[in-house]
Amino acid sequence: MDNQNSVPVADRRGDGSRMEESRNGLSRRQALGAISWAALAAGMTANPALAAPKRAGKPSDAAKKAFVDDLIKRMTVDEKIGQLRLISIGPEMPHAKLMDEVAAGRIAGSFNTVIRRDNRPLQEAAVKRSRLKIPLFFAYDVVHGHRTTFPIPLGLASSFDMAVIERMARVSAVEACNDGVDMTFAPMVDIGHDPRWGRTSEGFGEDPYLVSECARASVRGFQGTSPDKPDTIMAAVKHFALYGAVEGGRDYNTVDMSPLRMRQTYLPPYKAAIDAGAGGVMVALNSINGVPATSNTWLLQDLLRKEWGFKGVTVSDHGAITELTRHGVARDNREAAKLSIKAGIDLSMADQVYLAELPGLIASGEIKMAEIDACVREVLGAKYDMGLFADPFLRMGKPEDDPVDVKADSRLNRQPAREIARETIVLLENRNQTLPLKKQGTIALIGPLADSGLDILGSWSAQGVPEQAVTLRAGLEAAIEGKARLVTARGSNVIDDQKVVEYLNFLNWDKPEVIQDPRSIEAMIEEAVSVASQADVVIAAVGELRGMSHESSSRVSIDMPGSQRRLLQALKATGKPLVVVLMNGRPLAIGWEKDNADALLETWYTGTEGGNAIADVLFGDHNPSAKLPISFPRSVGQIPTYYNALRIGRPYTEGKPGNYTSQYFEEAQGPLYPFGFGLSYSRFALKDLKLSATRLKRGEKLSAEATLTNEGSHEGANVVQLYIADPYASIARPVKELKGFQKVTLKPGESRVVRFEIGEDELKFINGELKEVVENGRFDVQLGLDSHDVLVQSFELV
Ligand code: BGC
Repeated sequence: MDNQNSVPVADRRGDGSRMEESRNGLSRRQALGAISWAALAAGMTANPALAAPKRAGKPSDAAKKAFVDDLIKRMTVDEKIGQLRLISIGPEMPHAKLMDEVAAGRIAGSFNTVIRRDNRPLQEAAVKRSRLKIPLFFAYDVVHGHRTTFPIPLGLASSFDMAVIERMARVSAVEACNDGVDMTFAPMVDIGHDPRWGRTSEGFGEDPYLVSECARASVRGFQGTSPDKPDTIMAAVKHFALYGAVEGGRDYNTVDMSPLRMRQTYLPPYKAAIDAGAGGVMVALNSINGVPATSNTWLLQDLLRKEWGFKGVTVSDHGAITELTRHGVARDNREAAKLSIKAGIDLSMADQVYLAELPGLIASGEIKMAEIDACVREVLGAKYDMGLFADPFLRMGKPEDDPVDVKADSRLNRQPAREIARETIVLLENRNQTLPLKKQGTIALIGPLADSGLDILGSWSAQGVPEQAVTLRAGLEAAIEGKARLVTARGSNVIDDQKVVEYLNFLNWDKPEVIQDPRSIEAMIEEAVSVASQADVVIAAVGELRGMSHESSSRVSIDMPGSQRRLLQALKATGKPLVVVLMNGRPLAIGWEKDNADALLETWYTGTEGGNAIADVLFGDHNPSAKLPISFPRSVGQIPTYYNALRIGRPYTEGKPGNYTSQYFEEAQGPLYPFGFGLSYSRFALKDLKLSATRLKRGEKLSAEATLTNEGSHEGANVVQLYIADPYASIARPVKELKGFQKVTLKPGESRVVRFEIGEDELKFINGELKEVVENGRFDVQLGLDSHDVLVQSFELV
């Protein structure tokens, strides 16, 4: 084993699930045209399991069914059980043992191994040594990049640009293919209403419409036209379902939710990914109304298979089957295996439960062979769909084409990473046109996140290498080269609490992520203030360590952690213009920063090219146009804060405070920053909302249009957002719902009419009987550049 790889954070659980990277050469692209399977040809053609489908052309469903059925007929019980196991390579599964297990037909696939040189012998063991020569598949968490790390999903969603998300997924898929990866555990489409939840960073925010769009774009990008191509991977959407609603934002906690809310808010994004063709579904770790997702027959059978018609493979989350005993719904592993297989978990991830328990359950008749076959069919079907029966080495290529240095910079896609990252940066404040900065004079860069290649990569950085990441410091240096002077100081640590540092470092299994500056906060601030005093402007890079916004990283507070606020206050006191650059994976309570920063940029975690992208924005080489995909509460006590809440009987009315309306009395009401909010260096005006009709007949459409004008002096883009409110219906409806958006680029002085079509699709909802309906009556059409400040016109559906 070789530890020089960057550690995928996915591995922080400590299963050591990585293998050595290979050191060979040519690019995958070169390999793709020239794949020759002569070495394996004899074995393959002699073997009916591998002989059937041809690589060229898309086989029909009937051909796939015939192929899979035939194979199942020839499988032993042990071989069938083997096809239900997805293993993570680690200490408990050393390489030699793994090879034997594969050759014995006891493994369907592995995850966390992304080195062709290591995976090739495993695939060879499968297709040469196993009896039926069924190929393995290789999966990995390609969530926001593979070798190149792109911005975290919360950032990607901020782009409000689906081409950006599709491009991220496309480039990531190609990179993953070059490492022999066949499947990704992504997109993660869990709606987030509680920023205490660390996995908020991995999702696309709070809104079902936006997250569904992001889900579709991701699947398109990962799978391309079909997941059976050498440059496409299968997408397994996760975490099915409702994981984002864990109680109190505490990871792995229970979820209790009305069926109406599920269908209205939380379920649509999974459905969107499935409708877009996602070949896999990863099942969530949480329970839903008392029944763990992993053993939830309603979820996995009634909803997923019967109602939604999902035809792909389901994967448990890591160790979730054994966890059924801890949920208290299975007496022991035997019962856990029985419940999961009956519910419809095809692949068990990273445990031995199916292997150990299914033989006995089959022998006793508690599980019927047909139930096993149903799961095996999906696994084989997924392999078929990934093109692996036609060519087990489809993505792995030939040994002579293996990259010499898997981490070579030439394997990165820096240009797309920079262009994508720029689209994800949200400008929250810009007083006195502090930004864009000029490339002149002295610029002070201060803050514990200013030069961290690790943190800027964000939560699921896959094979991203911190040393290859452009930090903000490096980005600024490159941008101002020869034109301005950069002076720097750390200023503070991100966190001061040693217990928190230990927690974050404990999670990381091979080397500590968090290295503390041992100086006192007073000494660091003193130095920072003296550095700031020499400068014309101060940029402060503050926020969260990336490990704070991750799996198993729930917070009790969403405040600016540690002494960073003190640092900011001291910098403010210098009287220099203060530009606060936030790096974080969840909404933070940044009231002080809102009021005191001269400019405030939410950059999330921008990835490998983050420093360059942030510099592009700071200096105006790129005009920011991103919008918040999630509301920012003012304080932890205001959680949940989301824009599309249901109507209530005693709503708080802006400007008319009073008792006995719904409010927190110690604090201003409403979010600090609303959903959809984000500024530009230009000034945009949206005016003249017009509807093409005031009455709409069923089956017809009307249009809503308004004129967007760039009244400022910079070319730039803005996102026109369409919200619809249904003020009177058979049930209380959300105060408004996003139903469309368009990103429009305009030159200074330019105007454009932006038009949206509205028909029954935009007006339908789930009623009290859980049926999709459209009800007559008034609808309010709202167009705005955020969810709060909107133009309104009404029409009547008749
Ligand atoms: C996470 C999943 C991830 C899996 C494999 C689990 O702990 O919940 O999101 O795909 O590990 O790395």
